[in-house]
Amino acid sequence: MTKNTQTVKLNSGAIIPVVGLGTWQATEKGAAANATKVALENGYRHIDTAAIYGNEEEVGQGIRDSGVPRSEIYVTTKLWNKDQRNAEEALNTSLKKLGLDYVDLYLIHWPRALKADGEVDTEWSYIETYKSLQKLLSSGKVKSIGVSNFSKSKLQKLLADPEVTVKPAVNQIESHPLLPQHELHDYLKEQGIIAEAYSPLGSTGAPLFKYETVTKIAAKNKVEPATVLISWNVQRGAVVLPKSVTDSRIISNLETIVLPDEDFEELNKLADKEGIVRTADPKWGGTSVFD
Ligand SMILES: NC(=O)c1ccc[n+]([C@@H]2O[C@H](COP(=O)([O-])OP(=O)(O)OC[C@H]3O[C@@H](n4cnc5c(N)ncnc54)[C@H](OP(=O)(O)O)[C@@H]3O)[C@@H](O)[C@H]2O)c1
Repeated sequence: MTKNTQTVKLNSGAIIPVVGLGTWQATEKGAAANATKVALENGYRHIDTAAIYGNEEEVGQGIRDSGVPRSEIYVTTKLWNKDQRNAEEALNTSLKKLGLDYVDLYLIHWPRALKADGEVDTEWSYIETYKSLQKLLSSGKVKSIGVSNFSKSKLQKLLADPEVTVKPAVNQIESHPLLPQHELHDYLKEQGIIAEAYSPLGSTGAPLFKYETVTKIAAKNKVEPATVLISWNVQRGAVVLPKSVTDSRIISNLETIVLPDEDFEELNKLADKEGIVRTADPKWGGTSVFD
């Protein structure tokens, strides 16, 4: 088991660390600042946050408290659905909260625009939002742009637009053995778009630890179930974003192994055996974002 300090090159030319700290639901006072600081002090160089997580100030605090130079850290934040018509203003607000001059990666959080009252903004398209992210690149305030929760068909629609001239660098998607999304991962590889795996442990409370296949593979390889799940995503070529606010878990989640082929394959097929589980499927306007 070794600390995973691998990086991968994005289609924007930027270099992104393969394991990043997730911060969704790190909202208890001081939690995100401490998690960020502990992560950076222990070898992480990549932090994933979002405007809607409500913790950008603390992430910024954690970065400053760690003493790690800004230039060595990869920071992602995301544009919230209600701000899709005002990306520049939303980015400026995020930067101010983070206390940073730029973010390394700015993502459209979900391909669904909402009005201030929470209703779906049917007169606005995520493609327009993406075009406004493209414009932000020249400001220097974002180094790379990308999307999140985009299906293959939504990406195809986006890439087919003649005014879309910059490919998304990443698509941040739910990715764990119960939602492997093999076809989407293959499509992203074909397109040179990096998959970022969110909820790698199955999200809140790490429910994937309950599965016998996961614990069996962990015991066989003498590692924690978390290591198995994080390593599986690394092995399929994804950037992976485990979240924890617990110091010891933050530290151990950076350690990955190379899974033996038979274990990797068994995890690839876990959803065939146990059924698919998607944990994040919000239904704004009454319908799923996923098609
Ligand atoms: N783009 C999107 O729409 C989207 C959606 C969801 C998530 N994300 C991103 O992806 C990140 C990760 O996803 P997630 O937060 O849903 O879930 P996750 O990383 O799969 O799991 C987090 C849960 O696992 C626990 N945990 C972490 N490491 C552990 C370990 N070694 N042993 C035992 N338990 C452990 C955490 O507890 P403690 O924190 O209490 O230690 C927490 O309850 C998010 O934080 C966010 O940055 C993005």
